Amino acid sequence: MTAIEVSNLTKKFGNLTAVDKVSFTVEKGEIFAFLGPNGAGKSTTIKMLTTMLSPTSGEMKVGGHVVSENKSSVRERIGVIFQDYSLDDDLTAYENLYYHAMLYRVPKSERKEKIESLLKYVNLLDRKDDLVGKFSGGMKRRVEIARGLLHSPEILFLDEPTIGLDVQTRNFLWEHIRKINREKDMTIFFTTHNMEEAEKIATKIAVIDKGRIIITGTSKEIMKRTKTKSLESAFLRLTGYDIREENVSALERLRNVRRMRR
Ligand SMILES: Nc1ncnc2c1ncn2[C@@H]1O[C@H](COP(=O)(O)OP(=O)(O)OP(=O)(O)O)[C@@H](O)[C@H]1O
Ligand SMILES: [Mg+2]
Repeated sequence: MTAIEVSNLTKKFGNLTAVDKVSFTVEKGEIFAFLGPNGAGKSTTIKMLTTMLSPTSGEMKVGGHVVSENKSSVRERIGVIFQDYSLDDDLTAYENLYYHAMLYRVPKSERKEKIESLLKYVNLLDRKDDLVGKFSGGMKRRVEIARGLLHSPEILFLDEPTIGLDVQTRNFLWEHIRKINREKDMTIFFTTHNMEEAEKIATKIAVIDKGRIIITGTSKEIMKRTKTKSLESAFLRLTGYDIREENVSALERLRNVRRMRR
């Protein structure tokens, strides 16, 4: 069965085509890595798949539903961990999760137990009544991970989930993701800049660059086709060795700000 079906998906922001006629499929139960340099179009694709952003053109089916026609059915079936911070700093960890449970219609009788078991899983149960605004970056990420799993989604989207996590939490997260993938046949769609992580975890990989998919396959297939010995070498061969212009201009902006402050 197919969990995600994307055909000719395109997103334009003014003159910029962030996602350019992208097509791919993710089978149910797959752990799919969506890789690409900064600004390649990964987060934009995830936002469209998770109903947060409307595409300019193209079709998407998620969990058997056409996204444009049935947003609420799609939302019920997915969990999302966004790249950008999305917790409410003025609420406690417990309240952040409770609010989400209400939004996603987790039955009232199950909420407390589910929230507490997930907070226990991310090792934050003893901090459940503290404001998340006072948490460290890694602790905040762990709350977001717990929130993504709260309504037992069929498909879990994770946009750079391990950013800012220490090695222990990162390993723990992937072990858990693998476990629920195995036991519940949950489909996983994730992005990362850590090629070792992708090589280890993913059952299928797609590489996107400048809005276009440039290769799809298992990490072994991709290494074979690029005649390389690691996914990182394959990735560099496919996407080039230069820093993206976008990053250079971001650096330039930062320099200007610094200059102005002097
Ligand atoms: N709301 C927006 N308005 C205008 N341009 C946008 C918007 N969101 C994204 N973009 C642009 O679309 C392109 C793709 O951005 P996107 O966030 O999808 O990249 P990404 O692959 O997730 O990169 P990263 O690895 O840095 O997270 C970039 O050029 C970005 O500047
Ligand atoms: Mg991104």
